[in-house]
Amino acid sequence: MTAYINSLDTGHTPFLEKLEQEAKAAHVPIIRREMQSFLKVFLAVQKPKRILEVGTAVGFSAILMAEYGVPEARITTIENYEKRFQVAEENFHRSGYEDRITFLKGDAAEVMKTLEGPYDLIFMDAAKGQYIHFLPEVLRLLRDGGVLISDNVLQDGDVIESRFAVERRNRTIHKRMREYLYTLKHHPNLLTSIIPLGDGITVSVKQEMPQKKVRQEQEV
Ligand SMILES: C[S@@+](CC[C@H](N)C(=O)[O-])C[C@H]1O[C@@H](n2cnc3c(N)ncnc32)[C@H](O)[C@@H]1O
Repeated sequence: MTAYINSLDTGHTPFLEKLEQEAKAAHVPIIRREMQSFLKVFLAVQKPKRILEVGTAVGFSAILMAEYGVPEARITTIENYEKRFQVAEENFHRSGYEDRITFLKGDAAEVMKTLEGPYDLIFMDAAKGQYIHFLPEVLRLLRDGGVLISDNVLQDGDVIESRFAVERRNRTIHKRMREYLYTLKHHPNLLTSIIPLGDGITVSVKQEMPQKKVRQEQEV
């Protein structure tokens, strides 16, 4: 199904196509085609102006968001792997979007504490086992009505397996991802949909006044 869907994809700008090829050749993980397509549509629908990305790699998705977001969109992106810093910076320069992308180097857990919101969109695409730890800062930084998109949440299906069916070295990530998904679905200020797209994504909207409460008040 995925191959068929991706066969219909009309692609992006030549620069992004080239960047995707370069990243793949260098074994740098970047968002899959399905996620690329989803993000483009999402950007057109929500028109976020302040975007925060956690997990830059070499800048592919940040540049995609600059390309397909509204012209006034500003993207802040965080990366902690030193070996990727220079390539990411070069790519931002080559893309022509250097002035719209702020590249922050360091551990997102620390960097996020120094940021001021509100952000319209937060795109979570870093170490999967950390998502749950990033959540308090994400919620602080996200505006009411803002959206959190998290990538790679279904771990190629591992997440639905019993912990004993998962390789021992992956059990901590498995546990934390389950905790993350449970929290996103049960948090009083988040309304979340888990979508089996690519490696699994979640789309969560922040609501100061939770749905149930709104309904109760309307009934009174
Ligand atoms: C899947 S890649 C990001 C791909 C990128 N969003 C794209 O599609 O072009 C994940 C990146 O997150 C980075 N990362 C992992 N944990 C991080 C953390 N705690 N703080 C900042 N970056 C982190 C990794 O080094 C890696 O480059």
